[in-house]
Amino acid sequence: MPKITVLPHEQLCPEGKTFEAREGASLARALLANGIRIEHACEFSGACSTCHVIIREGFDSLNEPEDEELDRLDQAWGVTAVSRLSCQTKVGSEDLVVEIPKYSRNHAKER
Ligand code: FES
Repeated sequence: MPKITVLPHEQLCPEGKTFEAREGASLARALLANGIRIEHACEFSGACSTCHVIIREGFDSLNEPEDEELDRLDQAWGVTAVSRLSCQTKVGSEDLVVEIPKYSRNHAKER
């Protein structure tokens, strides 16, 4: 099974974490199942951008994003060329290194 390495995030996983996920699994659900409480304000429907992650390794092994996901990502805080909405992302055959951005759109608004 592919290995998912999550880089340290101050609130969500201060030490970072590595776990295995089945190929084809939803990345957001795999994170949650492993105790990383990524925000998911729209309950995985791809409508909110709070589940934004940056895929530092393994980006090309993931499913292709739909146009709606790319539009939604434009609204996320700190978006990069290797950003995805984790609820729309399926784990591929390769290991991943995932960074959770410091802020989600909700937090950015509160600043
Ligand atoms: S949970 Fe809302 S876009 Fe992923």
